[in-house]
Amino acid sequence: MELRNTTMAARRSGAAYYQQSVAQCFLLCCCIFVNPGIGYSLKNCTVRETLDDPNMKVVCTMRKLQAIPDDIPQKVRTLDISCNNIALIKKSDFKDLMVVNILNMSSNQICFVEGGAFLDLVTLKELNLADNKLTTLTEDLFLGLGNLSVLRLDNNLIKTIASLSFHCLSNLQKLNLTRNRLKFLKDIHPILQFTNLQELFIGFNRFTTFQSQEISNTSMGLQVLDVSSNPLGVFRITGDVLPHLQTLNLSFSGPNGSLEWDVLNSSFLSSVSILNLNGVNMSSDWVDMVLQSFNSSLKQLTLYNIGEERIKTFTDAACRIPKLRVLRLLQSNILFVSEEMLQSCNKLTELDLSNNLLTELSNSSFKSMTQLDTLNLGKNRLSSVPNVIRNLQSLHQLDLSVNNINKLHCSDFVNLTGLSILHIYHNKIPNIEGCVFQHLRDLKVLNIGTNKFLTLAGAFKNGFQQQLEILDLRGGLLETLSNGDFKGLTSLQSLVMYNNKISVIENGAFEGLGNLINLHLASNKITRVLTGDTFKGLTKLKELNLSSNRISYETQGELNYPPFCLLSSLEILIIFSQHPAGMIYLPSNFLKGLKSLLVFNAKNLNIRSLHPNTFIYTPKLLSLDISLNEFRVLSPEPFLPVPRLNQLFLSKAQLPSLDFLIGANLTQLSLLKVTNNALTAISPEEITSIPALSYIELKYNAFICDCSNSWFINWLKESNKIQVVYAYDYECKNPVVPKDTKLLELDTNYCSISFLCFISTTCVVLFTLIVSYTYHLLRWQVVYAYYLFLAYLHDTKRRKTCAPHKGQYDAFISYNAHDEPWVLRELLPKLEGEQGWRLCLHHRDFQPGKPIMDNITDAIYGCRKTICVISRRYLESEWCSREIQMANFRLLDEQKDVLILVFLEDIPAQELSPYHRMRRLVKKRTYLSWPRAGEHPGVFWEKLRLALETRNCTAEENPLLSGEERPL
Ligand SMILES: *[C@@H]1O[C@H](CO)[C@@H](O)[C@H](O)[C@H]1NC(C)=O
Ligand SMILES: *[C@@H]1O[C@H](CO)[C@@H](O)[C@H](O)[C@H]1NC(C)=O
Ligand SMILES: *[C@@H]1O[C@H](CO)[C@@H](O)[C@H](O)[C@H]1NC(C)=O
Ligand SMILES: *[C@@H]1O[C@H](CO)[C@@H](O)[C@H](O)[C@H]1NC(C)=O
Repeated sequence: MELRNTTMAARRSGAAYYQQSVAQCFLLCCCIFVNPGIGYSLKNCTVRETLDDPNMKVVCTMRKLQAIPDDIPQKVRTLDISCNNIALIKKSDFKDLMVVNILNMSSNQICFVEGGAFLDLVTLKELNLADNKLTTLTEDLFLGLGNLSVLRLDNNLIKTIASLSFHCLSNLQKLNLTRNRLKFLKDIHPILQFTNLQELFIGFNRFTTFQSQEISNTSMGLQVLDVSSNPLGVFRITGDVLPHLQTLNLSFSGPNGSLEWDVLNSSFLSSVSILNLNGVNMSSDWVDMVLQSFNSSLKQLTLYNIGEERIKTFTDAACRIPKLRVLRLLQSNILFVSEEMLQSCNKLTELDLSNNLLTELSNSSFKSMTQLDTLNLGKNRLSSVPNVIRNLQSLHQLDLSVNNINKLHCSDFVNLTGLSILHIYHNKIPNIEGCVFQHLRDLKVLNIGTNKFLTLAGAFKNGFQQQLEILDLRGGLLETLSNGDFKGLTSLQSLVMYNNKISVIENGAFEGLGNLINLHLASNKITRVLTGDTFKGLTKLKELNLSSNRISYETQGELNYPPFCLLSSLEILIIFSQHPAGMIYLPSNFLKGLKSLLVFNAKNLNIRSLHPNTFIYTPKLLSLDISLNEFRVLSPEPFLPVPRLNQLFLSKAQLPSLDFLIGANLTQLSLLKVTNNALTAISPEEITSIPALSYIELKYNAFICDCSNSWFINWLKESNKIQVVYAYDYECKNPVVPKDTKLLELDTNYCSISFLCFISTTCVVLFTLIVSYTYHLLRWQVVYAYYLFLAYLHDTKRRKTCAPHKGQYDAFISYNAHDEPWVLRELLPKLEGEQGWRLCLHHRDFQPGKPIMDNITDAIYGCRKTICVISRRYLESEWCSREIQMANFRLLDEQKDVLILVFLEDIPAQELSPYHRMRRLVKKRTYLSWPRAGEHPGVFWEKLRLALETRNCTAEENPLLSGEERPL
């Protein structure tokens, strides 16, 4: 019985196997006929525009690359390989990239560039090699870069520059050599000969002198020169070589107070309008002398880190320069601005005193500055708005941010009727009264975030700020927005309130904001107080950000008051990441009323399903981000109402397949991001259902690497229309494939070596099918035939020798398990015990582990005789009947009469009739009957002994058995 079960199981799994093969075969067949080749992928880069875009940008940043990728499309215009680990640029790296304009290789480990590596980059305009490890600029480094206009070599270890290395760069306009180890100005002499060079940055090097004769004898085109932070001992201009210089940065030069200033003629620097003398540690005489060199032209002077004690000297000298308009006195530890300090600076339009230690300003400190337009007092220690600003009627911009202002008074901004920009964020203002800004009738931008007020208390109700366009309240402690809080701000376009503690928004809170375009309410504590009236009045609102709040719902069912139904102009709605557990449900009419919506960002909301009606209100939707949710499965229905959808972000959504695309009718979809899901394969149907696709990201999925996926693999490998980002990184997730195996490493050739393979597989499969089918129906005939064949072989061998049988056993006993007691108690003691035959019993003598059929065959052929113990059960059992067959066959085959039939019960002829084989046998032969032995078993056993004794090689009738006892 057990045996039978195992063979059945084997047969069943065999069948399953065939079904599987047929399925695979079918897939193979499909993959041959479906046209592959509509995707392309770069190994380590992404293409930002489509392949036919004339301004193609290719980005390969942060990929830990050790070499320049070899698969960069030739049509690339902008190539960004920054932030990798590339150490060496080879001559062949940029071969054939004939149309690149911008090449960024900053932040790598480049220490050597093979000569002529850039030879093919004839159209290159900008080359960025900043933040690398270059030590030497060789002669042939820049060969071919005749069109280069910007070269960045800052932050390297450059010590030496070959005299010819710049000789090709005749069109260079901007050269940045900041932060290197250069010592001698003559090293850069060659580049300065090109009149095109306009901007030169050589700060943070080791230059000890700057002398005009070292760089040129003729006039140069230089407009910007930065020699800051060099240990300069001498600055000497002896000829008119810098007639066009406008900006000069000398900050932190001559750190030990010994910079020798030698400008022979004050006309030599007569074009300089912007001068930076930060941290120059010189005497006031020296400063006087230096500033005289710029007397005629200087407009803007920056001085920082010069120490409070010398401020007065500096400012006096500076403000004597007739054209000076902008003065920056940063980070100079200024505590107090006295009346005298800036007395002479009456022509300034911009004054920057930020980053000092100001606690107070004299009431008359800016008295003379009638033209001041911009005043920066940020990052100081002011505890109130200084009274002195009330005199500055000309002021347009005022920065009081990052101070300690702890009260605003109604008179603080009196007289500032022209102010248009006020920054007063990051202070300690506890409340704003309605009168505070009443004089600021022209205010357009007010930034008052990060303060301590909890409500707006009517500050903007009164209608004084009708010109205000931007109100920035970010980072404060606002808790409640009350009805009419913004009523007076009729021109407001942008209201920024993220990072407050807003939990209550009263109905009508935004009333009056009829021109508001942008409302930013992210990172607050808004729960679902949102009712239909919350956003009343925002008829022009285009963008609403409610991300990182506490909105959540308990069901997907319809809301009585859909929150956005009045926002018919809204184009962008952002609600990602609600705390603490996500929104959980997206109600089916959540988006009701948003008929202009183009962009919906709903990622990371812990929603598990989309109601089919979710998007019926937003027919114009172009971009949908629902990544980081737990969908597990998506159906096509929700997408049917948004046929214009162009971008779909679905990363980390636990999707096992993209089958929702089939039937979703997303005919406009061009960008699809589905990284970090559980996709095992992509089918041709899924891809054909999004015909406009041009960009797809599929990294971090669970792709199956076998031939069932070969369509997809081939599709990935082909380069044509669709960019499949980082396809070469996709990993296999089948259990048998070793970890880290890449999907594209799978050789699909053997899957689809072509039709031949398919045909042959089909043939094999069909053949096997037929055989197994035949086997199922006619298995005994087949087995029979098989053994006939075996026997034939056996026999031909045997016939030659015809030796007496050398079998181990005298007889093999074939019986049914139910008759075992008789065999063991009667037959065995008699034949083995008394008569001395050696018997073979399957339960005792069969070799374990050997196939049952082999055991039987061996037994029948290994024993001289086969005794069949026949009962009704024996006849019913397949195995037993097979043993008879086999023995019978041996009779036919070897002409050896090996079969001895012993009937254990009387079986009438009609009962035998279903067992035709047995009936035939019984008809033909004699047999022994145990019941008939009756009282005289002795005769029975004697007959059996005689039957067993026959040992002849050729067929011969056994006289004892023939003609005996025929019950039929
Ligand atoms: C690019 O990526 C592939 C696999 O993603 C990697 O084997 C190879 O080293 C990377 N580098 C270059 C320069 O192609
Ligand atoms: C020049 O290099 C310095 C140092 O890396 C950098 O800070 C500066 O922005 C660069 N300037 C230009 C114009 O490239
Ligand atoms: C406003 O400016 C005028 C003219 O400069 C001045 O007389 C007046 O005192 C100022 N008002 C205040 C409150 O300082
Ligand atoms: C699919 O969308 C197109 C427009 O993009 C539309 O014409 C067509 O009727 C839609 N088909 C179905 C079945 O909704």
